[in-house]
Formats: sequence, structure tokens, C-alpha cells
Amino acid sequence: MKQLSLFPDHQNNEIFSEINQKNETSYLEIKYNIPDNLPNGSYISLERNSPIKVYSLGFQPAKTIPEIPAWFLQKYTTKNAVVLEPFAGSGTSIIEVLKLGRKIIWSDNNPLSQLICRVKTSRLPLIDILAKSQTIVTESYHQETVQHSVDFSNKDLWFQKDVQVGLEIIKSQILLSNPVYQPVLLLALASTVRKCSDMNEGMILAARRSHVKEIPQRNRQDVFKYFQFYVDKIIEALSEWYQFDWDDSDIQEVPSQDARNLDRNCLCDAVVTSPPYINAIDYIWASKFELHWLNLVKNNQDRLNLSSQEIGTERISSVEYKQLGKTGNNQLDNLIIEIFNGDKYKASKGQNQLRARVVYKYFMDMQQHFHSAYHQLKSGGYYCFAVGDVSKICGVDIPVADSLTDFATNLGFKEVFRFHLLLKNRKLNIPRNVDWAGTIKHDTIVVMQKS
Ligand SMILES: C[S@@+](CC[C@H](N)C(=O)[O-])C[C@H]1O[C@@H](n2cnc3c(N)ncnc32)[C@H](O)[C@@H]1O
Repeated sequence: MKQLSLFPDHQNNEIFSEINQKNETSYLEIKYNIPDNLPNGSYISLERNSPIKVYSLGFQPAKTIPEIPAWFLQKYTTKNAVVLEPFAGSGTSIIEVLKLGRKIIWSDNNPLSQLICRVKTSRLPLIDILAKSQTIVTESYHQETVQHSVDFSNKDLWFQKDVQVGLEIIKSQILLSNPVYQPVLLLALASTVRKCSDMNEGMILAARRSHVKEIPQRNRQDVFKYFQFYVDKIIEALSEWYQFDWDDSDIQEVPSQDARNLDRNCLCDAVVTSPPYINAIDYIWASKFELHWLNLVKNNQDRLNLSSQEIGTERISSVEYKQLGKTGNNQLDNLIIEIFNGDKYKASKGQNQLRARVVYKYFMDMQQHFHSAYHQLKSGGYYCFAVGDVSKICGVDIPVADSLTDFATNLGFKEVFRFHLLLKNRKLNIPRNVDWAGTIKHDTIVVMQKS
């Protein structure tokens, strides 16, 4: 890998000639902010400033870095523009939109992401919430028993008995508190749930693996301590965030919370987003514990139904995945056939067909999303997406960004700009016991315009 520097007064042509002379990928080494004059098609690596704390609040396994939406919003939108973020996640783009004085409409189908985004987009009475959390903890130490309100598969495998009691006690106290306080308190409970589960530090999914380390014994007092710790962290991050000049009235949620079916009243000047990564993360599975403990799903079936609605879902029946799907994009359809037939890698029974269908369905769902977003976007408006590229599935390289751009172009978008960002220290793929799911090396950022 070769590093280049991008200086503001550097001629674009010079940079390009240097890149083209080498037969390896050369990266423009950029410090802090992605510049407006970045040459189209650049490969960049980014040295980052430490961001404000609000970005780190809330669990989301594939957070975008704020520099990407910040670059897009400054280059392609003006103050007071209405911006749509259909795959909001932990709200990174939302924060950027508000920081830069634009208005936001957002959606995400995961109820945990919805909670995180609501906390980040409300101005709440932080001092009162802090005081309430302290009362809750004090009262929890004195509470002996509590009714069990939560049930889900493998609960006892992942939560020690006394931890379960501690979580139930805190939750029952939160639910008795002022509804205005509850989002922050529940978000702290969500972090406590993850921390006090028997997952190892850094694990994304609740799946037993050979490398699971020994888990420390925990008790209900640990639960109370972590809860207070996370409330303090949230309050500190929000206090910092509240110093920025943004207004609750500039925020709107998409009622359906489904990026495939945006509602008619979401008219916007621009879209900025990072859609799910193909074959990388099941967001609903990854937040299974939080969803159940916070009553964000009613039961296992309710959670599985949500998972089926995710873009990129692997919950596909065998009747469906035995059929070879055709997207109408010849290049992509040939790659799907290679996966289906196991030309590059023969996986265990049914996996090739399943993966082929996952890829097919991912692109069909994204096409539906582009169609819906196209109708919400004003003429001449810009749509920017950042996506992990390239994805290796059963040994077959899927050019995700190119294929998405092709589908969008067929609907009337026109590509106007793209660049590639080298990913550093990002665990985007869940480690699997297989050698056919490669690691994503770049985020590709594409800007398109509605003609
Ligand atoms: C790559 S993540 C977005 C991360 C976000 N940019 C951040 O920095 O936190 C993709 C998000 O898409 C959401 N998602 C998946 N399917 C969806 C759908 N049908 N409608 C809306 N959101 C969906 C997932 O829940 C996930 O939060």
C-alpha cells in the first residue's frame, strides 16, 4: 500500500498521474476532514480527530464514521435542507445533519436503534434523570424480590441467575419512573444487559464459539453498578451534545420505520446513509438480548419477524432459497449462479443456495428502497451511500457498490462522484468457521443525483 498526501493546493492531475503509474492501490492520506476538492475516484485513508462522545452511545456493530456524512452534507446540501437517513443505526448521520443546521427525517427497523436515535434527538432534563437513576440504584439495593417479566431462548445460558434478578429489579424501577426519563434509563439498561451477559468483551453475537473465555461470576450488585456507570456516561455525552445549536423541531421519524416503504410525507432535498452490509451482520440477532430485556420485542417469534424484514436477512425458507432468483442485472445474476452452483466454494448442505438467495434478496430489497427514496427526493437532489465493498460470498466477489449504483441508475439516478475509504480497525465481518466469507477492505462512497 502506498500513502500519498492531499494538500489543499495540490493539483488534482498530479495526484492522479501518480496513482495511475503504479499498479497497486495508492491511498491519499487525509487528516481529519475529507476535503471538498477530493478527486473523483480517490482511494483514501483517514487519520481521525477524537469525535464528540455522543457518537459512541448505543450498540451498533457497523457505525459509520461522521466524516463521511459531514463531507457530503457540506458539499451537496445547504443550510435548512431536509435530509433523509433511512438506515439510521446509532444516528451518526443524524448528529451530523443537526450539527450542520439541516433538518432530518430518519428510520431504522431495529427498535434498539430507534431508542438510541430518540435519545440522541431529544433535549431531556438531564439533571433530573441523573437524580432519578441514583434513587433507582439505592432502592434496587433494598429490593429483595421481583417478578420475572422476560423470557427468550437460551436466557439461562447467557445470563447468570443473580444477574437476571438484578436486571429485572432495575427494569421494574425504570418502568415506574416518569416516561420522559425512561429513554435514557432504558439505554443505560441496554448497555448493562450487554456488559453483564456471558458474552466475551468485543463479541457481537450471542453464539458459542471455541474461543469463548472463562466468564467471571457476577451478582446483582454488579448490575446496579454498571447501570449507574452507563447512566453517567450517557448524561456526560448528552451534556456535551446539548451545547451544539440544534432544535428538536427539526427532527422527524418515518412512520413505517422501513426503508423499503418510506411514507409519502418524507419529501427531502438529500439522502445520506450507510445501508446494511451484505452477508455481514444480522442487526436484530446482534441486539437480541437488549431487545428482549427492554421489552422491545414481545417474544422470540416477534424478534424473528423483525429479522425477516431486515435488508440482508438470512431468514429465508428452504422452499424459497431452492429457487434461483434473477435480479435482471446480467453480471450480478452470473455471480449469483456461481454461488448457487458452488463453482468457487462448495459449502455444506444448502448453504450455497441460501447464500445465493440472500444476495438476490438483498439487491431486490435495496432496489425497492431506491425506488421509494427516489419518490421522496426532490428533482436535482443528491443521494449518498457508503457501503462495504467488495463482499466475498462462497468465494465469489460481489461488487456491492457497483451493483447498487446500477440498480439506482435504472430507476433514474445518475452517479456524480465516488471515493473509497480504507477501513481500519473495524470488525465488520463476524468471524465464522468458514473460509469463504472474506473481510471487507473498503467503504465505497457513491453520490448520485436524481435527474
Ligand atoms: C450499516 S447500519 C447503519 C449504521 C449507522 N450509519 C451508524 O453509524 O450507526 C445499517 C442499519 O440498517 C438497518 N436496517 C436493516 N434493514 C432495514 C429496513 N428494512 N429498514 C430500515 N432500516 C433497516 C439496521 O437495523 C442497521 O441499523
